[in-house]
Amino acid sequence: MSKINVGIIGAGNCAAGFIRGIEHYRGIPQSKWEGLMHSEIGPYKVTDIEITSAFDADSKKAGKKLAAALAQPPNMVAWGGNPKSKVVVQGAPALDGIGAYVEGVVRQVRSRPLSEFRKNIISELESSKTEMLVNYLPVGSQKATEFWAEIALKTNIAFINAIPVFIASDKVWERKFAKAKLPIIGDDMKGILGATIVHRVLANIAKERGADPIVTYQLNVGGNTDFLNMLERSRLESKKISKTESVQSQLRSRLPDKSIHIGPSDYVPFLHNTKIAFMRLKGKMWAGVPYDLEVKLEVDDKANAGGIIADAVRMAKLALDRGQCGALKGPSAYLMKHPPVQMSDSVAKIEVEKFIAGA
Ligand SMILES: NC(=O)c1ccc[n+]([C@@H]2O[C@H](COP(=O)([O-])OP(=O)(O)OC[C@H]3O[C@@H](n4cnc5c(N)ncnc54)[C@H](O)[C@@H]3O)[C@@H](O)[C@H]2O)c1
Repeated sequence: MSKINVGIIGAGNCAAGFIRGIEHYRGIPQSKWEGLMHSEIGPYKVTDIEITSAFDADSKKAGKKLAAALAQPPNMVAWGGNPKSKVVVQGAPALDGIGAYVEGVVRQVRSRPLSEFRKNIISELESSKTEMLVNYLPVGSQKATEFWAEIALKTNIAFINAIPVFIASDKVWERKFAKAKLPIIGDDMKGILGATIVHRVLANIAKERGADPIVTYQLNVGGNTDFLNMLERSRLESKKISKTESVQSQLRSRLPDKSIHIGPSDYVPFLHNTKIAFMRLKGKMWAGVPYDLEVKLEVDDKANAGGIIADAVRMAKLALDRGQCGALKGPSAYLMKHPPVQMSDSVAKIEVEKFIAGA
């Protein structure tokens, strides 16, 4: 069976979790695999995913082989296995990618004209036969994400946008991918069992039981670079929209802005990759009697993300095999917080199974 050739933009913690997780599955028989949303997607297993190129703007990572680059601080994923890949991480332009709070920990690669970066990136993608790019840039990387989306269009490869910059859900960008006959999945990945999916399900069930929430919040804390970067509120505009709309879309009618608060809330260094989400919904039930529902979720943020991208790349590969192009609506709704079309998670699951079956 053919392999899936994947390129990584941003060899940070999410990339480490995804790639080291694939090695975990390579090391054990399929009968012992756990924690996958799909063991197989069409003919593809997670172990069919090959990382064929990787790019980063940190000089501690660029120029190193993949395993060594993924082990560089501030990365902190210690589970899974080391990739044996010969891929050498290539330098990438910072553009707006490196935030003020992260500047001390990410040491930017030597600055070069953008055209030089572009030439090297295109040559690397072509020579490595990369079929799709996964975008793992920091929150707030609007210009850098647009740069990479243009690269995907130019090199004729698919795009998976794991971050909250709107590309798949932006009509102009989506049309560019459709016109180029390339699939795109986005934007801003959910977790396997993340705060967004849990909050959506709670909001949905409250609605379905006639106990619509009147106010709700979701507060998140974590101790990795992503949370450090998110201290810079000006980089968070699209993240806040993405997370809030994901829950708003599940309600009978929109809550006023003052009655819904969802967002990354603080950086607590000793939590490392553990993310803690506190969710609360308050509303009324029978005879107008109030209820107050509070949930705490504690997860490894990067294990939560890895399985989502393992599904996304295999669905993008199916689309490439079948010549499907533009935003993949079912897969995007199932895997992403801000897809082009929002669905309830149960409907998205049905749509994704239809997509996999080729219906
Ligand atoms: N569960 C999750 O972890 C989750 C869920 C949804 C979205 N996301 C998003 O995924 C993205 C990646 O998260 P992460 O935890 O890996 O972050 P990270 O900070 O660990 O990794 C980002 C990587 O990008 C590199 N980088 C910075 N600017 C760059 C540029 N211009 N070009 C190339 N590389 C650049 C950094 O050096 C670093 O290696 C973030 O935007 C995050 O918000 C994560």
